[in-house]
Amino acid sequence: MISVVGVGPGHLDFLTFAAIKRIKEADLLIGAKRHLELFPDLRCEKIAFDSRVDLCGLLKKKGRIVILASGDPGVYGILDAVLKCADEREVEVLPGISAFQYFMAKLKLPAKGTAVLSMHGRKVDIVPVVKKYKVVVVFTDGENTPQKIAQTLLLNEITDRVIHVGENLSYSDERLKSFTVRELASCRDKFQLNLVVIEKCGNTDSEYPMTFL
Ligand SMILES: C[S@@+](CC[C@H](N)C(=O)[O-])C[C@H]1O[C@@H](n2cnc3c(N)ncnc32)[C@H](O)[C@@H]1O
Repeated sequence: MISVVGVGPGHLDFLTFAAIKRIKEADLLIGAKRHLELFPDLRCEKIAFDSRVDLCGLLKKKGRIVILASGDPGVYGILDAVLKCADEREVEVLPGISAFQYFMAKLKLPAKGTAVLSMHGRKVDIVPVVKKYKVVVVFTDGENTPQKIAQTLLLNEITDRVIHVGENLSYSDERLKSFTVRELASCRDKFQLNLVVIEKCGNTDSEYPMTFL
């Protein structure tokens, strides 16, 4: 049995009871270093996962395999890769709180009228999305930084937005900052693990339902 378990944004407080139960039953725990470090007392075999590891090879191992997934496994997460390697009937998915849900809750923003997209390892033209939606959530990476996103908006003369940056969400060093497009475009901060929410200024309503792009 392979369980793909969402561990939420990172702090143990945001793990579900179901996730903890399944993790304690594991023979093999696979996950990013920051996620494996959440369980220092577990004695099972642990394998730190990154893009160089042969996931399909690992999933052929015997016993109860638990894959720790950031946030929710199905939200731009590892679920797609697991389903390319394993028989779906052997796979169980336990959802977690996505980093974007956590950040939206911090910002007290309802999900209606929101588009969610990922630039984590992907090229996406965010301009038409930002023009269309009142709120746009962007998963970032080391290439597609908050500054790059702001510079793209500035180049396209989209300046009536507030850009919220959530760094190390749920951890003790969590930082939430809000910028104008111009401020962020020239900001020299080096953001750590982060998520961006682009919000249209003013009391605008949205005709669109929530969308994942
Ligand atoms: C591959 S995506 C996985 C998203 C995950 N499945 C989810 O539902 O949150 C990884 C991206 O999620 C965001 N992320 C995940 N955890 C975060 C955290 N604790 N604080 C800020 N951003 C986070 C970052 O943009 C990171 O580059």
